[in-house]
Amino acid sequence: QTVINLGKLHSFRKRLNSSVSTCRCLLVRKYSDVPRKFISFEEVAAQRRAQARRSLVVQVNSESSFKELHGYCSEYSDIKGVHHYNNSSGEHFMLIEFASEENLKDVLKTCSAHQKDVDVMSLQSPFLWFRAVQGKREKYTTPATSLAITEGNAAVNEDKLFEGLTTCASVSDQIQMLYDQTVLNDVGVRLRYMVARQLEVIFASLYSNIAIRPFGSSVNGFGKMGCDLDLVLTNVLPEEMSDPKKRLVYHEKKCEGGRNPWQRHMELVAELLELRVPGAGRVTRILNARVPIVKYTHEFTDVECDLCYNNMSGVYMSELLWLFGSLDPRVRPLAFVVRRWAHTAGLTSPHPGRWITNFPLTLMVLFFLQQKTKEGVVLPPLKYLVQRAGKEDVRIAEDNLNCTFLRDMNKLPPDTYSQNTASLETLLVQFFEFYAQFDFQDKAISINEGMAIRKPNGLPLYIVNPLEQTLNVSRNVSYEECERIRMEVRNTAWQLETAMEEKTDDWGLLCLIERKTSRGLKKLLRVGNSQRLVSVKDLFKDDDSVPCENELKSKLE
Ligand code: CTP
Ligand code: MG
Repeated sequence: QTVINLGKLHSFRKRLNSSVSTCRCLLVRKYSDVPRKFISFEEVAAQRRAQARRSLVVQVNSESSFKELHGYCSEYSDIKGVHHYNNSSGEHFMLIEFASEENLKDVLKTCSAHQKDVDVMSLQSPFLWFRAVQGKREKYTTPATSLAITEGNAAVNEDKLFEGLTTCASVSDQIQMLYDQTVLNDVGVRLRYMVARQLEVIFASLYSNIAIRPFGSSVNGFGKMGCDLDLVLTNVLPEEMSDPKKRLVYHEKKCEGGRNPWQRHMELVAELLELRVPGAGRVTRILNARVPIVKYTHEFTDVECDLCYNNMSGVYMSELLWLFGSLDPRVRPLAFVVRRWAHTAGLTSPHPGRWITNFPLTLMVLFFLQQKTKEGVVLPPLKYLVQRAGKEDVRIAEDNLNCTFLRDMNKLPPDTYSQNTASLETLLVQFFEFYAQFDFQDKAISINEGMAIRKPNGLPLYIVNPLEQTLNVSRNVSYEECERIRMEVRNTAWQLETAMEEKTDDWGLLCLIERKTSRGLKKLLRVGNSQRLVSVKDLFKDDDSVPCENELKSKLE
């Protein structure tokens, strides 16, 4: 990521009397001769996992418990930072990051269990609570670190957001503001890694080498505050454990019966979530799909989780999106506004059905940014990243799926991306113009090629799955829904022309997006429930014809 010095940004702004996002672009350009340092997805994920391994979430009485909790824990360990948040039930939590994993282990040695009730069996998990003291309280000194008060997983304050959007100087600033204020924040990411860590700790004694990895919007850089958490469970033996020279070998329990063993393991996981995972509630099993999924709500963090098994291609897909998002600072803000526009227009819905979802919409944004306009391209096609991959980039996912592409963007010649320096406003207008003229009838969208290819079949919307090119990630989209996308895109392209010029009450983005109310729902009802709402059972009627695990997952979403 290019680091922008805020002091410089504001002095630029003053001198140029220009808007913040124009200044950002100028600064990026001015310093573009300084080589950019990209951090790889795997590095970020490793840092986040390490951070979670040295962190605890402690339920407290209120914010004022900070001094006491800090003082108590500091007796055993060094504290790096403390973040406070409330969940939707109004309960208070503090996420404590210790200086090292060893430090955290020292604190855990001092923990007790709540054994008042014989039915409650104790268990170690990184979610704890801070017991009030009986009698005289110990006096602690004021901590050197201050408490960071955060929003946790709370939804964005829409009134504040809209107030900000009205006062922006330009549409580009509005797009940037929408992104800055709604993107999943640091504590949101930390909490999601804590939720994954909790399962790892609890399941570790049952499955050796278990890893629970977040994927999807929580980690691909396109997640907004409050987004769901997609989790994948893997149980891969490291090389040293598969060494045939080692003579002592663990006995294993074979899974008997004809059913897919992992379907049965996922049944067990669901039971464990209900019985053994503090904070996990409303567990739903969707086990008859080819990829069994267990959904649950994590009540301490307010995160909705979807847990599946061995879906590493989902993780690699998240990595791919993350890499494209990191290549240019305009990619994510543009995707955010398009996703928000689609929500307002009622094109997407939190329920599964025959309509488009955020993931294929993001691919549509990436595909548009790969198009050559008179300003040049913003992003290279995926085939460039595949051609430049080295030995260290080889990744083979489930079903022998080849997910090899260049991981280190520092190796990519800078002229393969960001030749284009158009403003966000220009890109947004061009996005709608591009899709208003796109030949949905005969063409498929392929980010692998970076250009439209012939549709291999008659499905209404065809977006090539970048990692499994014989599949269509939008095969669930019905003809009516595809028509609605085309209509809304055309209307918006036309509407934007006037909204950009006139400074009326709903200028710029304000005419495209709305405060989150029930309007999306209203639109949905207007189109007709019987037409749009389908049951999960309907989605699996043609189970045999569904070729891809992820496609099933997207249906379930
Ligand atoms: N995915 C995939 N192939 C699909 C659908 C999904 O590989 N056909 C992967 C992608 O990595 C995607 C992730 O599964 O990001 C999660 O899918 P989903 O939850 O539908 O999308 P998100 O990107 O997480 O967006 P949202 O915020 O709407 O959950
Ligand atoms: Mg998701």
